[in-house]
Amino acid sequence: MKNKLSKLLAGALAGVLLFGVVGCNTNNVNNEPHDVPMTIAADFTQKEKKGNWVTYGDCKIKTQDGKAVVTDRKTSNAGVAIPCPDYRGNTINATASVSGANDSVTITLTYEVFGNISYVNIASAPTTEASESEISGNIEIPANAENALVYIEASDVRDYTVSSYSLSIVGDLNNLTGEPVEQLADPTATASLSAAYADYFKFGVASPATVMTNKNDGFRQMILTQFNSVTPENELKPENVLDRDTTLGNVSKYNESPALKFDAAKPILDFCKKNDIQMRGHTLIWYSQTPSWLFYENYDVNGQLASRDLMLKRMENYIAGVMEWCEKNYPGVIYAWDVVNEAAADDGGMRDCYWKQTIGDDYVERAFEFARKHAPAGVQLFYNDYNEYQDSKQADILAMLKPIAEAGNIDGMGMQSHISSGLNVDNYVASMKKYADELGVVIHITELDVTAPKSVNPMYDQGVYMKKFFEAIVAADKDGVPIECVTVWGLTDDMSWKSSSKPLLFYGNLTPKPAYEGVMCALSGAEVAKPADYVEPKSDLSPFFEDYENKEYVGGPRYSSVQKIVGDAYEGEYCLENSEGYAEYDGYSIDVTQYAGHVIHVSFAIKSKADQCCCTADIDGTWPHICEVQTGTDEWVLAEGDFEVEEGTTMLTIYIESSDMSPYYLDNLKIEAVN
Ligand code: XIL
Repeated sequence: MKNKLSKLLAGALAGVLLFGVVGCNTNNVNNEPHDVPMTIAADFTQKEKKGNWVTYGDCKIKTQDGKAVVTDRKTSNAGVAIPCPDYRGNTINATASVSGANDSVTITLTYEVFGNISYVNIASAPTTEASESEISGNIEIPANAENALVYIEASDVRDYTVSSYSLSIVGDLNNLTGEPVEQLADPTATASLSAAYADYFKFGVASPATVMTNKNDGFRQMILTQFNSVTPENELKPENVLDRDTTLGNVSKYNESPALKFDAAKPILDFCKKNDIQMRGHTLIWYSQTPSWLFYENYDVNGQLASRDLMLKRMENYIAGVMEWCEKNYPGVIYAWDVVNEAAADDGGMRDCYWKQTIGDDYVERAFEFARKHAPAGVQLFYNDYNEYQDSKQADILAMLKPIAEAGNIDGMGMQSHISSGLNVDNYVASMKKYADELGVVIHITELDVTAPKSVNPMYDQGVYMKKFFEAIVAADKDGVPIECVTVWGLTDDMSWKSSSKPLLFYGNLTPKPAYEGVMCALSGAEVAKPADYVEPKSDLSPFFEDYENKEYVGGPRYSSVQKIVGDAYEGEYCLENSEGYAEYDGYSIDVTQYAGHVIHVSFAIKSKADQCCCTADIDGTWPHICEVQTGTDEWVLAEGDFEVEEGTTMLTIYIESSDMSPYYLDNLKIEAVN
């Protein structure tokens, strides 16, 4: 505790120094080198800037009893922020205590990288007015990031109160003050993905509109060189298309047909039109990034939810309005629309959302009917979802889409494919084939990104996986599976919504990664080159031990799970919480490749409300359990087991899972080679 307090005080002091020295000019990348504090703690007894905090977006913040009370929030992202430009190139922890009537709050990192703005969510937690929720998470800030700032947003525009908020460096400080950012590489020097894959499918990319207005031409050149399909990353989502001020300004006029605006999307549409690139329209009907006022009578969130009839009218008018405007102003540019996004729930059935609550379970069917009615001839209509390759979710999606396919209202299945390199490629391709066969639709891979493994050679191993992945989809395509487009979800790792997972094909400065090479090697048959700094994976037999007392951990999430350091440990003060998985097998994952050729002994203390927890080796198709232990009593129990990491293994992770999706707590995790 003492440690925590002195850290906080040091941070507060250093934070004052930070702002004292550089003022509030956050763009200090070219400044002289200077000291960087290990912690920046917001001091809500002080005014804005002086107290290390600033107002982000359109809202009012008043300090009261050492807390920040955030009111008049015009958008859901408006709130308290801590600027941290000097933290570029570091992993940081962000921790806040927040109360409010919002459904949930999220801590988000934003930064500028070569003129593009990125937003990366760090951690979320449900909130209540009565008590404070602690939200905490770690994130890596790219070395080339400028103007980094971490802000607290919420799921809605209700007020919230922050009693404490701080950012701290995790591990050793990497002080990059005074260091210039890298130079952008010439993107035209890299062979074209879309040209290489022309015989098979379109090769697309998601892009934010900032690319089109960026002072650096490199990103536009990159799209023109590499890709022949573009998806606007956020600009055609309802939150950007619905014109709140006009609609709310004349509720009776717009009651059945909300006003629309396209300012956000225009730069991308102009770019595509001018350069003759086709666009995937993303997305019309979605539970997320859609303002809640759309679903209320008179658009008043304090009133009643609108009736089914009214919402059907709003839905049809919205779909018709967007499709007609795009076709009139940019004829032929949009060749496919994601009509409905993510309607299947993670735990089975249909996701609960405003569309379902107001219209009913048939809202997906109705959306496709309206889309077909208003779509220009030849424009393909897609359903789009994630974890779409998992058996149970696929069964739900197929059941939902069958009647729509029978009615002839759907043309394609959008497989988002936010995956990690542990995913079994054969199962993935089998699920793709099943969609095509059972629905009679074409396939687009719409949002491909592949979390780099936590291995000693993460970039190389990711490249090897990309080769395997693309070999499999090319083989499927040759075999008649109608794959028409593969889109990667972003241009560079630094621009990715999951930048810490380094999931894309290009580094921040546009240099191709081994992942890019892997995609090309899938066609040429060549091997991905080992990088100059390649580390032989089995060189280190030292035992692995984590007790989380220094708040650090080297493993990472398998799929969508979230790890966080919390109190109430088995021993000492801290342990690791694993939560928010979409499936039982989401969990904390550790690379054990270094033990290849040896038997490892794995032991740990675990606590969970789930009946059983186990430690599993991530071997495609078999997933052997190293040990299983009965939990469920919410008491700490000990688990241990042995496992042979085979000679010649080049990449193996083990992970800890629970028998349902309840969180688990982990402490004293030990792995040692025993022969
Ligand atoms: C993401 C964007 O990449 C982020 O910039 C934004 O903050 C949140 O949405 N599934 C989808 C995409 O269909 O629209 C999402 O895009 C990623 C998950």
